[in-house]
Amino acid sequence: MERKSTKGFRMCFLCACMLLFILGASAAADNITPNQSIRDNETLVSGDGSFELGFFSPGNSTKRYLGIWYKVSPETVVWVANREAPLANHFGVLNVTNQGTIIILDKKPSIIWSSSGIRTAENPVVQLLDSGNLVVKDGNDSGSENFLWQSFDYPCDTLLPAMKLGKNFVTGRNWSLTSWKSPNDPARGQFSALIDPQGFPQLVVRNGSVILYRGGSWNGKRFTGTPDLEQVESSNLFKFEFELNKNEVYYKGEPYSSLLSRLVVNQSGFLERFVRTKQSNLWAGIYSAPRDECDYYAVCGVYAICITGNSPLCACLDDFEPKSPMDWNNSKWSGGCVRRTPFDCRSSVFTKRPGLKLPDTSHSFFNTSMSLAECQEECLRNCSCMGYANSDIRQGGSGCLLWFDDLNDMRVFTSGGQDLYIRMANSTSGPLVLSKNSSEKKKVAVIVIPVILVGVILGGLIFWMMWKKLRKQEHNRRNSYNIEGGKDGMELPIFDLNTIVKATDNFSNNNKLGQGGFGPVYKGTLPEGQEIAVKRLSKSSGQGLEEFKNEVGLIAKLQHRNLVRLLGFSIQGDEKMLIYEYMPNKSLDYFIFDQTKSKVLDWKRRMHIIGGIARGLLYLHQDSRLRIIHRDLKASNVLLDNDMNPKISDFGMARTVWGDQTEANTNKVVGTYGYMPPEYAVDGLFSIKSDVFSFGVLVLEIISGKKNRGFFHPDHSHNLLGHAWKLWTEERPLQLIDSNLGDCFAVSEVLRCIHVALLCVQTRPENRPNMSSVVLMLGSENPLPTPKQPGFFTERNLPESESYSSSHHESASVNEVTISEVQAR
Ligand SMILES: *[C@@H]1O[C@H](CO)[C@@H](O)[C@H](O)[C@H]1NC(C)=O
Ligand SMILES: *[C@@H]1O[C@H](CO)[C@@H](O)[C@H](O)[C@H]1NC(C)=O
Ligand SMILES: *[C@@H]1O[C@H](CO)[C@@H](O)[C@H](O)[C@H]1NC(C)=O
Ligand SMILES: *[C@@H]1O[C@H](CO)[C@@H](O)[C@H](O)[C@H]1NC(C)=O
Ligand SMILES: *[C@@H]1O[C@H](CO)[C@@H](O)[C@H](O)[C@H]1NC(C)=O
Ligand SMILES: *[C@@H]1O[C@H](CO)[C@@H](O)[C@H](O)[C@H]1NC(C)=O
Ligand SMILES: *[C@@H]1O[C@H](CO)[C@@H](O)[C@H](O)[C@H]1NC(C)=O
Ligand SMILES: *[C@@H]1O[C@H](CO)[C@@H](O)[C@H](O)[C@H]1NC(C)=O
Ligand SMILES: *[C@@H]1O[C@H](CO)[C@@H](O)[C@H](O)[C@H]1NC(C)=O
Ligand SMILES: *[C@@H]1O[C@H](CO)[C@@H](O)[C@H](O)[C@H]1NC(C)=O
Ligand SMILES: *[C@@H]1O[C@H](CO)[C@@H](O)[C@H](O)[C@H]1NC(C)=O
Ligand SMILES: *[C@@H]1O[C@H](CO)[C@@H](O)[C@H](O)[C@H]1NC(C)=O
Repeated sequence: MERKSTKGFRMCFLCACMLLFILGASAAADNITPNQSIRDNETLVSGDGSFELGFFSPGNSTKRYLGIWYKVSPETVVWVANREAPLANHFGVLNVTNQGTIIILDKKPSIIWSSSGIRTAENPVVQLLDSGNLVVKDGNDSGSENFLWQSFDYPCDTLLPAMKLGKNFVTGRNWSLTSWKSPNDPARGQFSALIDPQGFPQLVVRNGSVILYRGGSWNGKRFTGTPDLEQVESSNLFKFEFELNKNEVYYKGEPYSSLLSRLVVNQSGFLERFVRTKQSNLWAGIYSAPRDECDYYAVCGVYAICITGNSPLCACLDDFEPKSPMDWNNSKWSGGCVRRTPFDCRSSVFTKRPGLKLPDTSHSFFNTSMSLAECQEECLRNCSCMGYANSDIRQGGSGCLLWFDDLNDMRVFTSGGQDLYIRMANSTSGPLVLSKNSSEKKKVAVIVIPVILVGVILGGLIFWMMWKKLRKQEHNRRNSYNIEGGKDGMELPIFDLNTIVKATDNFSNNNKLGQGGFGPVYKGTLPEGQEIAVKRLSKSSGQGLEEFKNEVGLIAKLQHRNLVRLLGFSIQGDEKMLIYEYMPNKSLDYFIFDQTKSKVLDWKRRMHIIGGIARGLLYLHQDSRLRIIHRDLKASNVLLDNDMNPKISDFGMARTVWGDQTEANTNKVVGTYGYMPPEYAVDGLFSIKSDVFSFGVLVLEIISGKKNRGFFHPDHSHNLLGHAWKLWTEERPLQLIDSNLGDCFAVSEVLRCIHVALLCVQTRPENRPNMSSVVLMLGSENPLPTPKQPGFFTERNLPESESYSSSHHESASVNEVTISEVQAR
């Protein structure tokens, strides 16, 4: 009672503080008029509080700049007005003239920066919009898009979601990004990112006036050189827009949800896209280019393709040869390749080369209403046409793109590449299909023969090793016991009770590792030094000796790298024990729910763990010869080996202790509240879908670092499932993420995991996917079904019996108590 009231008080206090904070923030205006100004210590804040405008000093510089930044922690500058003309002191001031020109004045006062503009206003108002756009408008037509001036027309190094990267053909204005000189100096650096409108418009990053990286032309879905952008889009994270008409060409990328986002050309010439939620304290990079050696402009020269990680890096197109074989031999690729046989203009054919980043389009012609056949005709008509392709890849491809110059800067992609039709001499090329086949046959032979050879050698080696191992096992047979678990007979060592007593120091409390669902677990050390984990089964199970042996034999057959390995067992009178391999890293709950230890588990590791658990569970459900329902999957039952590989423990235990109960109903509910699906906890019905539910809970716990049971949120009384569901329906799922994960996670992977987890915890078992679907969904990028509301949404609709004693359960998980003998209704 007392605890509750202090908590209540703290909550009120917190609310009051937040209210004060909000009031304080909203006191800042989002606009100024000519009779007002902004001094160095004052700011404008956009209406929704997302952006702030004011003076700042970048990095360790003491100079002052007027800028706009994302009002998050840490503040992230997205635009700088006087990037080339810093103020030396804090006496700068921003004024608006009566005509609507924004000016920055220094101490003298003299104007050091002003917004350009031809049109003037009657009642000018300068306003910082929620999009981060600083605009000058005439007070009379407020709300109109007809701004007299806007900062979005003068990008610095950052493209915000509502900003355009491209060119306005009417005004001649370029919307391009230019890097900062250094973290301490926002002046124009040497790198710029722009849409080059020459030929067919394409995205390029330049180093000075030299192209450094070419993102390529837009193919309807993405730039041809950025196949991984499609993944970002298909994860429902971003909407990318590309518009090309006679007035303008532009590219724009907006997140669908309330994510904050920015695209930056950084001081080393990389184009990077970041996202974050307002609450998290770091930006996550989701895309950066150039990504590899093949992304750099024209590394292989003309008529050559770059193959990442290949040796040699560059290869000539079919029927082309290196222009300078000597250079080519010395890894100087930039000279490119030349035709073996020049084509005769009147008689030439086309070879299709799939999987490419299309060549540089700065000397190309396009017509978006032509078909591919018309395109080929058009190409044949002009002797300087070297190739053609579809300009749009949507709906099977449409539009025409023709190259009137050497084909330059191509690379291959393992997925997401495009088809290019290359003009060839008739004699060498022959009909399209034939030429492709013959060259492919050659390639197949080149690949297949070595593969077969390697296979044969490896096979021999494996056979030899297995044979050796078998011989060794034969040798060790002395102390083995043959269990008639199946026709093939299973060997599993029996451990002498005395050995176990010695190994565990007579089951001393110091050696107790935890309390599993079916009895305590002790650490032990065998005389030879091998470390083991001993599970001492509760004596209550009325199982006979033979049944027990049978069960153990079956469990011993379950071998999977994501299941803990059973080393042996021990029986003496009532005492039944299972001996497992010892896992030095304890269990998952020991890491994920701990503020410090959870830092060890970065996103890659967590993803690895989620995948491992899914595969282990799939094996139990489907791939093993027995159909095992775990019934008590939870964080403390997932152990971690030295390399943080997850291993499910306590599988098959339900069978061992309670006998074969794979029917749909049981009178004994085995499991842990918080992980149990409604149909099981309430009605005692269980199926493999009950494990799927527990898996979903576990995934959400791994992502959030929070326990489902005992989850607390100041805004609502939902448990973790309810909380995740709320964030999902409000389109801000990323807020679920454990803050200890930092900024190093793949947003699309995290979103996919949350999505899959929500599918797993749906109320109705028939809506939940089975584990094979789960494994597939986690590993692919296909669209997923929409999840329905999860079961056990709030703590309140838990069953009554919450008040069991937990004092003697001293496992690593304090709040998660295994109920082993609750009678179901
Ligand atoms: C500033 O000018 C606006 C209109 O331009 C007017 O509404 C406001 O009262 C003026 N404020 C002061 C302090 O003069
Ligand atoms: C700038 O604005 C301030 C305050 O409105 C005013 O005192 C000052 O004269 C203005 N300076 C110029 C050059 O307009
Ligand atoms: C800003 O500084 C000036 C003096 O330079 C002071 O008069 C004014 O109150 C300050 N404003 C705020 C909001 O701190
Ligand atoms: C701070 O500025 C000095 C030059 O004034 C520079 O050498 C140094 O690298 C800067 N430090 C950081 C962290 O940017
Ligand atoms: C704007 O409104 C003022 C009065 O509020 C009026 O005098 C002026 O003519 C208007 N200007 C335009 C362009 O409508
Ligand atoms: C736009 O960029 C092109 C080349 O990138 C340059 O020639 C032109 O002057 C620029 N136009 C403006 C208005 O900056
Ligand atoms: C950019 O160009 C300069 C010379 O103009 C060169 O020294 C530098 O290495 C280039 N940077 C990159 C990232 O290519
Ligand atoms: C620029 O981006 C690349 C790629 O993301 C990154 O490795 C590099 O550290 C960044 N450089 C700066 C100065 O931020
Ligand atoms: C290039 O290397 C190949 C094989 O490594 C050799 O046959 C050829 O003569 C070399 N060419 C030149 C020009 O060095
Ligand atoms: C290719 O050459 C053959 C004969 O050499 C000719 O019959 C055929 O029409 C030519 N094909 C094209 C597309 O010119
Ligand atoms: C594009 O192709 C269509 C169909 O072939 C043609 O009608 C149209 O005139 C072409 N447009 C241009 C600009 O060449
Ligand atoms: C071929 O195309 C180029 C580039 O578009 C053009 O300059 C040339 O006149 C064309 N030649 C013919 C014969 O149409």
